[in-house]
Amino acid sequence: MAEGVRPIRIRDLQEKKRHGEKIVMLTVYDATMARLLDRAGIDIFLVGDSLGMVIQGHETTLPVTLDALLHHTQAVTRGTKRAFVVADMPFLTYQVSVSEAVRNAGQLIQRGGAAAVKLEGGRAVVEVVERLVDAGVPVMGHLGLLPQHVHGLSGFRMQAKEQREAERLLEDARMLEHAGAFAIVLESIPDEVAESVTEALSVPTIGIGAGPHCDGQVVVSYDAFGLNHEGVPPFVKQYAQLGELMVEAAKTYAIEVREGRFPTLRRDVSAVGASDKLR
Ligand code: KIV
Repeated sequence: MAEGVRPIRIRDLQEKKRHGEKIVMLTVYDATMARLLDRAGIDIFLVGDSLGMVIQGHETTLPVTLDALLHHTQAVTRGTKRAFVVADMPFLTYQVSVSEAVRNAGQLIQRGGAAAVKLEGGRAVVEVVERLVDAGVPVMGHLGLLPQHVHGLSGFRMQAKEQREAERLLEDARMLEHAGAFAIVLESIPDEVAESVTEALSVPTIGIGAGPHCDGQVVVSYDAFGLNHEGVPPFVKQYAQLGELMVEAAKTYAIEVREGRFPTLRRDVSAVGASDKLR
């Protein structure tokens, strides 16, 4: 741990909720991005199974495996000094049995270096949440639009629009809190539903497409920074167009290589540096 950097802990997140300070969370998939976003003071890094879409190029998160998630979690934790790192549990790594869920979550903590795991669902996963928490694995819940249920939900669409669904979601949130979840992501639900869940819980809610009343916000970093242009949800604000910057930089590089302008001749190799180390 670098001197002077105090890592974010669950207690800090709870304090933020108590003091009405917003929690800032972003998805992160590699060490370079982790280093950059740590400098920006982001509180929580989610190694999301959205990597299946933005990194691996799939249509959904369903093909993501535990090995892939573990690989990216290891990269992220290597690049992180301050943020609280949460690793997503991929599809079918926690639904088959409680003992498999504990073993798989344990991999993300023990080998991946994550501080917590996130899993999707309400009452259906309560037993798993209890066992993980008992085993010392902090759990972030995820309600509303559950991307791993994309087929059953007939696509990525807003949830809990009806009164009955909203009441059920609130019950699920209370059950997750009671089971020991330290925070809950609320995805694509009406603002007023997110507001009443946020008020009802003592643990923080983190919204994505759930309006401004949640205790914190999360977005897929590739969407927010303009690295990804396909399937960006309408609620996402793009804070930069890094994709366009990269295309322009790559074009300039290509021109310079083709025209022989890069690299330039190094007349005095000893001037390159005292050390042989190039990186
Ligand atoms: O995988 C992911 O990126 C997520 C966020 C959308 C919350 O679960």
